[in-house]
Amino acid sequence: AYPNLAPTPPMGWNNWSYYMCDINEKVVLDNARALVRSGLARRGYRTVTVDDCWMSRQRGPRGELTADPAKFPHGMAHLGRELHRLGLKFGIYEDVGTLTCEKYPGSLGHFREDAELFARWKVDYVKADGCNVPVAPGHTKEETYRDLYGQMSRALRDSGRPITFSVSAPAYFQFAGDSVWHRVIGWSAELGNLWRGGRDVALQKSTPAAKWSSIVYNFRYNARLANLQSPGRWNDPDFLLAGDTGLTRQEIQSQMSLWAMMAAPLISSTDVGGLSAAARKVLGNKKVIAVDQDALGIQGTVVQQDDGSAVLAKPLKNGDRAIALFNSGDTPRTLSVTADTAGLPDADSYRLHDLVTGRRTDSDGTIVAREVPAHSTVLYRVTPD
Ligand code: GLA
Repeated sequence: AYPNLAPTPPMGWNNWSYYMCDINEKVVLDNARALVRSGLARRGYRTVTVDDCWMSRQRGPRGELTADPAKFPHGMAHLGRELHRLGLKFGIYEDVGTLTCEKYPGSLGHFREDAELFARWKVDYVKADGCNVPVAPGHTKEETYRDLYGQMSRALRDSGRPITFSVSAPAYFQFAGDSVWHRVIGWSAELGNLWRGGRDVALQKSTPAAKWSSIVYNFRYNARLANLQSPGRWNDPDFLLAGDTGLTRQEIQSQMSLWAMMAAPLISSTDVGGLSAAARKVLGNKKVIAVDQDALGIQGTVVQQDDGSAVLAKPLKNGDRAIALFNSGDTPRTLSVTADTAGLPDADSYRLHDLVTGRRTDSDGTIVAREVPAHSTVLYRVTPD
């Protein structure tokens, strides 16, 4: 298996859903500095990934990838040095096909040299997309993807630099039927540290309703993949939209809490310098981050659900259990789950710590969240007494 370089879910920032191709050195470094200034870097958001569109349209004279000189006038090695100087890590995007999704040069046929180049640039994290993959003659689509991601995985491993590897293959099989999709996740987990499984969260330019429904969609499919996760091998349901326009405070808090319950990578895609105090607080909530980053490394599971709600439970290293009660409906609702259904050990009483409000309460068996507003999630850390 690929080296275990992400014992806890990766955290950081990526430009894609907010800026798409509208990126350059200044945008990336301004966001990097804002991560440091806001304290979010200290809370763990340290991997700064430059997504698609950083390259020139053509490889250089020796077949090497080159940065777009207008966007990154000092080159990518320089960008990496600046990020490292800030105490951050450097992530970069490529694709295992002939072209990236936005039609910049893909890595196919160049896996070794690209991995060596990334290592020379001191890249710490590679996100490898799977657009424009020509199916090899006599092979299935799955065999082709497996071969290409395998080549990139080995090239990165052999580069001599520890590079966290994000595999997008499963996203290209999400509609191929669960058995195929799940098998692809199986080999992706061997080849990398995390993988994209489903759709992209909605982009900055889309409507608030589209953004919210993309969060709910990604939550639902990702929750069903819990048994395919293992410590150090993470399902990635895509970016956190906190700070993005149009979503309510409840909605961004819900996404953060649900992602933490699913031990999902916490990768913010926003203008970090423009975050409201409220959004910064949501992203930076130490206690919620601790649930995500818990050392047991287990993705929480849905223990109860109906049309408009879901309850998740996640075991934590110190014997506590995180319990999230999510009201996905459009009206306030009281939600509850029994200690038994939530997988809590039998006890006379339970101490509940609401990780968002900070409120502490006791329960003798049923975990209740009263009048949960629409689209909200109540997240408790529960200690059996
Ligand atoms: C795909 C990925 C996105 C982003 C774009 C870039 O859609 O899922 O996260 O990387 O490609 O083109």
